[in-house]
Amino acid sequence: MEKARISDVPQMHQLINYFADKGEMLARSLSEIYENIRDYLVVRQSEQVVACAALHVSWSDLAEIKSVAVAEDSQQQGIGTQLVEACLNEARELGIATVFCLTYKPSFFEKFGFSQLDKMELPRKVWVECYRCPKFPDCDEVALIYHLDVGV
Ligand SMILES: CC(C)(COP(=O)(O)OP(=O)(O)OC[C@H]1O[C@@H](n2cnc3c(N)ncnc32)[C@H](O)[C@@H]1OP(=O)(O)O)[C@@H](O)C(=O)NCCC(=O)NCCS
Repeated sequence: MEKARISDVPQMHQLINYFADKGEMLARSLSEIYENIRDYLVVRQSEQVVACAALHVSWSDLAEIKSVAVAEDSQQQGIGTQLVEACLNEARELGIATVFCLTYKPSFFEKFGFSQLDKMELPRKVWVECYRCPKFPDCDEVALIYHLDVGV
């Protein structure tokens, strides 16, 4: 697992949008991935990107885990777990107390200790992206939140 490189973006785009087309996660444009490339971790196997995930900082006490995707052939091997744990560790290192995600797979995140909350409880700032989403305002993703002990 490593930080994404700019040359990974076309493969990350393909991976995310493969699952987005199946309705399993939100689509991302190339532009969004390029602009946020420093948020992303990837797992490569023989030069192929087989998984990715992003941690995006929203505010002093809030970050979001986004775009967790593991290629079908590489699932059920703990890669998704490693990516989420790495994102949580990065949030902890940054001193960010709360991490949230919006997902269609709440049970995957609940295993880490995330708990569900009403989307309306998330700060308005994180809705900026939602306004651009074709599904807005009828979002059917589930919001989950995780509190880190960052000693504040
Ligand atoms: C959801 C997703 C990210 C999970 O990724 P993954 O790499 O398969 O996840 P893991 O392997 O860490 O965990 C999945 C399961 O494999 C099990 N597992 C973990 N390591 C394992 C190993 N070494 N051997 C066998 N099984 C293992 C886990 O216990 C877990 O069990 P569960 O099915 O009972 O929950 C992946 O299925 C995916 O990309 N889906 C499409 C996109 C998507 O839905 N993303 C959701 C976030 S928006």
